[in-house]
Amino acid sequence: MAAISLNVNGKNYNLDIEPQMPLLWAIRDIIGLKGTKFGCGIAQCGACTVHMDGKPTRSCVLPVQAVTGKKITTIEGIGTEENLHPVQQAWIDEQVPQCGYCQSGQIMAATALLKEKPNPTNADIDAAMRGHLCRCGTYDRIRKAIKQASKVAPKNEASGGK
Ligand code: FES
Ligand code: FES
Repeated sequence: MAAISLNVNGKNYNLDIEPQMPLLWAIRDIIGLKGTKFGCGIAQCGACTVHMDGKPTRSCVLPVQAVTGKKITTIEGIGTEENLHPVQQAWIDEQVPQCGYCQSGQIMAATALLKEKPNPTNADIDAAMRGHLCRCGTYDRIRKAIKQASKVAPKNEASGGK
């Protein structure tokens, strides 16, 4: 065990945990934010995607000791029920989710994409969303929602949020 400091959604957490613990475990089981999902556990599906200093990152294979000093944003940190991120609103408008399991990872990838490329081409979207697997096959709706959100997405915030 070791003292590990994590900054998640703008809040500091001082934890006494195993340094090799995957960030996903710390987020879900220690901090208690359950929006980030466990899918494959081997960086192949994208369900566990969070932002690390604004970049989409797979938290299932990232030890917490590698995250100290970084700013982590989870799905809970990009908007609120009263003030949805444009990507969240577009997801609702386009009725993207089916079972929903993959969707927080998809949304985190989409918000990071729009922050970097406010008007993405289809090729940009394909590149950013590659490797974000959806067993329900919502890919067409994801693309539509990203296009919709690109018309209104905020351009300057740290993680594409709030
Ligand atoms: S759970 Fe991390 S990529 Fe699948
Ligand atoms: S909505 Fe079911 S896995 Fe993507």
